[in-house]
Amino acid sequence: MHCSDSDFSVFTLLPPFNDLNAQLVVGGKLADSGYTITYEATAAPDGSLNSVSHTKTNFWNYALPLFGVSPSLDIGLTGNPMASSKPAPLTWESQFNWFEASGIPITPIDDNMHENYFPMVKVTAYDGTNKAIASTTAVLPVSSEINCGTCHASNTGNPAAKPVSGWVNLPLGSEKDWRMNILRLHDEKNANTANYTSLLTQKGYGSSLESSAVTGKPVLCDTCHNSNALAVWGISGVPGVSSMTAAMHNRHANVTLPGQTQTLDSIGTRDACYNCHPGKKTQCLRGAMGNPTNSNGNHTMECQSCHGSMLTVGNKARNGWFDMPTCQSCHHDGVRETVAINADGTFKTWNDIRFASNPNTPAQGWSLFRFSTGHGNLQCEACHNSTHAEFTDKPSANDNQANDNLRAIQAQSYAAAIRECTVCHATMPSSVNGGPHGMHNLGQSWVNSHPDAFGTTPKTNCYYCHGTTSAGSSLAVIKVAKTFNIDDGGAKTFAAGERVTCWSCHDGPNP
Ligand code: HEC
Ligand code: HEC
Ligand code: HEC
Ligand code: HEC
Ligand code: HEC
Ligand code: HEC
Ligand code: HEC
Ligand code: HEC
Ligand code: HEC
Repeated sequence: MHCSDSDFSVFTLLPPFNDLNAQLVVGGKLADSGYTITYEATAAPDGSLNSVSHTKTNFWNYALPLFGVSPSLDIGLTGNPMASSKPAPLTWESQFNWFEASGIPITPIDDNMHENYFPMVKVTAYDGTNKAIASTTAVLPVSSEINCGTCHASNTGNPAAKPVSGWVNLPLGSEKDWRMNILRLHDEKNANTANYTSLLTQKGYGSSLESSAVTGKPVLCDTCHNSNALAVWGISGVPGVSSMTAAMHNRHANVTLPGQTQTLDSIGTRDACYNCHPGKKTQCLRGAMGNPTNSNGNHTMECQSCHGSMLTVGNKARNGWFDMPTCQSCHHDGVRETVAINADGTFKTWNDIRFASNPNTPAQGWSLFRFSTGHGNLQCEACHNSTHAEFTDKPSANDNQANDNLRAIQAQSYAAAIRECTVCHATMPSSVNGGPHGMHNLGQSWVNSHPDAFGTTPKTNCYYCHGTTSAGSSLAVIKVAKTFNIDDGGAKTFAAGERVTCWSCHDGPNP
């Protein structure tokens, strides 16, 4: 989910900037630069199409004063176009073995001017003779639902956020209103900070951020506050000034919503984070970890289960965007923890790496999922989708979120981590443990051949995923109904969601 401001005339935290990465498998092999891949706008199943941007945002009016460049309408900051009816190319990136189009300037408004945070693109692969050989659809999730106005809007906001010199009182409900209030408050709060005046001059903002915006030069917050999200593109802040993540999460840890007493830091659920991250409507946290609920109907995992609270995220010692939880903080030894983080802000670690992201990826000391590769050198995301939208057979009720799962459904006909071997392999491989995470091949051929596997594989290797008892384990679940022939003309049918155990077809592992 990429956040983007919906008004650029006052200040910006984030420009419209979605990244699309694609990998191509041809005949069971990961393909490279010998192919061409394109993206274009395509309608979601509900008909929503998003094929133009400049009519929906004032980004192009302010790109020059904000970012020092003036891309043509519908062209993003790295030169890639908005998805449209005209296919645009992705470029081969050998470092990651993927094709990429960075910085696609998409907005959360579809062509009928309705909000849609899950717009879709069609991705098509062509071979050396320009023949289309494969295509799929993917979501470019985007939202501008940053609800700063809840607390920073004139009069209706939190009195604790009211500038000493009063609210700016621009027309009620206008986005400029709360944005101007934020600049006024920032100017007041930092008036006595040693180098504030000189920083303003240095960055071309005159005597104050507010006056600069009023006179037509909007503010790029990250020109003073470093954000590693923009630093990788060459926009870094001023050394010594707090990073954007530390500044925002610390300053807002102890604030409350208007009329309430509970601080954001003490709210233990995603509701706290959805005050700025998108959001109550958008629900950027969805998928396999976001949707599940416990017996009380509460979410099993919240943002804090993985990232910690506001103060933990705002810890100045953290390297924002890089010091992150990992899948293996929770998924280890056949277990699924529901909390990834320790009380001291470090992440849980275990020795088991079956479900681990790669060490020192993309650089020393980090282990980022979005750059990691697994089976067949494929990106983890190729089979799982992006971090907060993991493919799952338990989608949430929000129809648009179902768009996330379409790519998996197109590949293997059902929503779940992509596992059907013949999605990628021209013929069913024969393997006891050479599949993703040490899986065997699937289907009747495996049912027939598994008794022969035990010459080389101890049965204990099966127990990691299948469990040791007739109760089985959640690591070996059939996601779509399947029927296998077993003995003497008999058959065993598994329902979708049923566990496969060594008792399902015969009396345990020693029939
Ligand atoms: C839940 C209410 C709430 C929300 C939501 C909120 N703020 Fe604030 N914000 C406050 C309060 C209250 C203060 C004043 C805090 C203080 O005086 O310690 C503040 C202070 C600030 C300051 C002044 C910082 C300083 O001291 O220099 C800035 C800048 C700011 N907020 C920006 C934002 C932005 C941008 C957003 C949205 C991404 C946002 N706020 C969302 C309540 C909120
Ligand atoms: C001209 C430089 C400059 C710009 C531009 C700027 N800030 Fe600041 N900001 C500072 C300085 C300096 C401080 C105080 C020192 C520090 O936080 O390191 C500060 C403090 C803050 C704080 C309080 C930090 C804390 O820990 O209490 C927040 C929040 C904040 N800024 C948010 C923003 C937002 C949001 C924007 C864009 C609307 C912005 N800033 C633009 C220089 C800037
Ligand atoms: C007051 C607004 C606000 C609230 C509330 C808020 N965030 Fe953020 N968050 C931001 C902004 C702004 C950024 C972008 C920082 C940047 O550009 O580097 C951000 C970035 C992040 C990042 C990525 C950067 C990093 O530090 O790694 C994480 C993770 C994050 N937030 C987690 C959370 C969690 C978890 C919560 C709830 C407990 C939360 N945030 C609540 C404003 C907020
Ligand atoms: C905070 C702990 C935690 C973290 C971190 C975590 N998971 Fe999970 N994961 C769980 C739990 C708990 C479940 C079982 C949820 C349920 O259905 O009740 C789960 C379920 C899953 C499933 C099965 C989903 C299904 O519908 O069958 C997949 C796949 C998965 N996680 C992948 C990942 C990946 C990939 C990562 C890293 C990007 C990750 N998880 C990080 C706790 C976590
Ligand atoms: C199940 C664990 C989990 C939960 C729940 C979770 N996150 Fe994350 N989040 C991660 C992981 C893991 C990463 C790092 C991804 C990587 O390594 O590439 C991440 C990364 C981020 C980033 C950086 C951008 C990105 O996508 O890499 C932001 C911002 C963020 N999370 C905010 C949130 C917010 C806000 C919530 C709640 C609404 C939340 N997260 C809930 C695991 C989680
Ligand atoms: C070729 C497809 C593929 C790739 C690539 C892939 N996975 Fe998986 N992943 C799967 C399948 C299939 C499952 C379900 C296996 C199971 O339930 O035993 C799974 C399950 C998981 C789970 C959840 C285990 C559970 O408790 O259900 C995690 C965590 C996970 N993978 C992490 C990763 C990480 C990290 C990477 C990259 C380093 C990765 N995966 C790469 C296919 C893949
Ligand atoms: C999403 C695509 C994808 C899926 C699904 C997938 N594989 Fe693969 N697999 C690959 C790729 C790519 C390679 C690397 C082939 C190469 O470069 O030689 C590979 C390699 C292998 C290898 C190494 C030997 C070889 O063929 O080169 C085995 C064994 C294997 N896969 C088994 C499986 C099994 C079993 C399953 C199903 C449980 C499976 N794979 C599912 C893409 C996939
Ligand atoms: C990495 C996890 C994992 C390991 C290890 C594992 N399995 Fe499985 N097994 C699965 C999953 C997941 C399924 C369900 C696949 C599907 O969707 O059909 C499955 C399905 C099966 C099936 C039904 C066939 C099918 O296609 O669904 C049999 C039989 C089976 N496993 C036997 C074994 C035996 C015997 C071993 C040990 C040699 C073993 N498994 C090891 C994950 C595993
Ligand atoms: C989908 C049905 C199915 C599942 C699930 C299944 N098996 Fe089997 N298994 C069979 C069939 C069919 C045979 C061959 C006929 C027989 O011996 O009953 C067999 C035979 C065996 C044999 C050889 C028995 C002999 O007398 O030679 C062993 C050992 C075995 N299975 C172990 C396992 C283990 C361990 C698991 C769980 C990880 C498992 N099976 C899960 C269907 C299954």
